[in-house]
Amino acid sequence: MILMKDIVRDGDPVLRQEAAKVSFPLSEEDQKLADNLMEYLKVSQDPDLCKKYGLRAGVGLAAPQVGASKMMAAVLVPSEEGTKSPFTDVIINPVIISHSVQSGALTEGEGCLSVDKEVPGFVPRHDRITLRYQDTTGETHKVRLKNYPAIVCQHEIDHLHGILFYDHINHDNPYEVDEGTIMFE
Ligand code: NI
Repeated sequence: MILMKDIVRDGDPVLRQEAAKVSFPLSEEDQKLADNLMEYLKVSQDPDLCKKYGLRAGVGLAAPQVGASKMMAAVLVPSEEGTKSPFTDVIINPVIISHSVQSGALTEGEGCLSVDKEVPGFVPRHDRITLRYQDTTGETHKVRLKNYPAIVCQHEIDHLHGILFYDHINHDNPYEVDEGTIMFE
């Protein structure tokens, strides 16, 4: 099981690398990695287990964050009081094939299991994306996501390209976003 000690922190070069494409059928190692990434998210979202294992709750975890430079990330966005549309899968070789012109950002900014300090500021993203990825069986999916799950997926896909969320924050004006940016929780 992945614990906080297994999560690579900012400063490790693996977080700044371009991850390698994953081939199918998945190797035993890659299947295990996929299972472990998703397991971490599930356990971390259970308040009792999260506390028991000393985890930080997360909705996404990318393979490079556990030291594996591979194009794979787990996403677990549960439905919450009907305000957030759910999205759960291990996304492999994900590509954003199209996106809205409209930007979106979280009112609370973003955090990352690999970044221990809080970095204040808005992180402008695409509000809506069409995402193509393969699941662990190798099946290709094309999904349209908006708002919160779209932001989570963009954050995770960034990890596969060596990008961290604070790279997107405007350093001169951290709370400045383009006109028309949708802000949501
Ligand atoms: Ni992250």
